[in-house]
Amino acid sequence: MKTPRLRLAPINTGMYHNGVPTLENIDFFAARAGCGIGMCMVGNIATTSVTVPNASTGIMSDNLSWGSLAEAIRKAGSISGIQLSATLPGYRGQRSFVALDTETAMRQYKVLFDQMSEYDWQTLGDKFIQSIELCWRHGFEHVQLHAAHGYAFSLILDPKINPEKHGWKALISILKLLASSNQHGTSLRVSWHTGLPYDDKRQARILEVWRPFIGKIELDLSNGYYNLDKRHIYPPHQNGGATFLNNAVSLADEFPEASLVVAGNMWNPYKLLETIPSNLNISIGRALIADPNYLLHQRNDKTSLMLCDDCGKCHFFSKGAKSIECPLWPN
Ligand SMILES: Cc1cc2nc3c(=O)[nH]c(=O)nc-3n(C[C@H](O)[C@H](O)[C@H](O)COP(=O)(O)O)c2cc1C
Repeated sequence: MKTPRLRLAPINTGMYHNGVPTLENIDFFAARAGCGIGMCMVGNIATTSVTVPNASTGIMSDNLSWGSLAEAIRKAGSISGIQLSATLPGYRGQRSFVALDTETAMRQYKVLFDQMSEYDWQTLGDKFIQSIELCWRHGFEHVQLHAAHGYAFSLILDPKINPEKHGWKALISILKLLASSNQHGTSLRVSWHTGLPYDDKRQARILEVWRPFIGKIELDLSNGYYNLDKRHIYPPHQNGGATFLNNAVSLADEFPEASLVVAGNMWNPYKLLETIPSNLNISIGRALIADPNYLLHQRNDKTSLMLCDDCGKCHFFSKGAKSIECPLWPN
């Protein structure tokens, strides 16, 4: 399968009813597919109703609307991608952007993590395996495992939360299934930086788990934990363009046989593609939420303006809304 250089970053729209994509959700992705975007990634789809971050999360099932969503993206001209995720049972997402106290937030993650037995991890892993197969049956061409942002599989990779590598076997069995497909694209999304002092140890774990699958599973570099400091996930615009590019370029150079993806204020994608390694791809979130034709404008006029002004309304959970809102894309 072709490796798209420019993608819609995984986006959870919140436009799900009883876990099923609504027509509004299908329209959201169809409006962005094509338009210069090689792959559209439907974000944060849970595999069970007890591992959702909030009530408006999609839950993978045999409901035919999932096939309609994949088809709408394909027909509009992008590869249809989907990201599968799990929160730990009992998890509560924090609405504020920055935790009052990092130690307390980390302790809360650890308390939930320690309640998971090996059997629980195996059961969750089995659920992922069923869901990946469902995604393929529905026609999704690329499946991503969400192991970033403090979700369940990112905590397996965290040596402070999980010094003893609990759940490792379940994680590997998911990656083996993803790597076994020659017909589908696959990726692993991780949080490279969280801002915590032991980040280098987490990064070593990420490389340990991913290295055997290089060439089969892309590494999608995100950052941050949702309940610690969301500014690592969605860098404020005032931090400037291509916020996290440098470490992504270093990794792409270190692993030339791998495919990697980077997100975070990637505002001049066509200019950047001329300079970054050919195995590093770009994904874009907020600029494409505000303006589905952002890439067309950029391609035609590399100095064209980005409409998103980082007003924050799209962060629907933090704002107490049910689904994405964007004053610049009112439909
Ligand atoms: C409204 C919204 C929803 C998002 N949903 C997800 C998600 O479901 N999964 C995920 O990994 N990242 C999610 N992200 C993070 C984006 O994928 C992306 O990494 C981040 O916004 C940085 O890219 P940007 O600067 O181009 O917006 C979301 C971002 C926004 C703004």
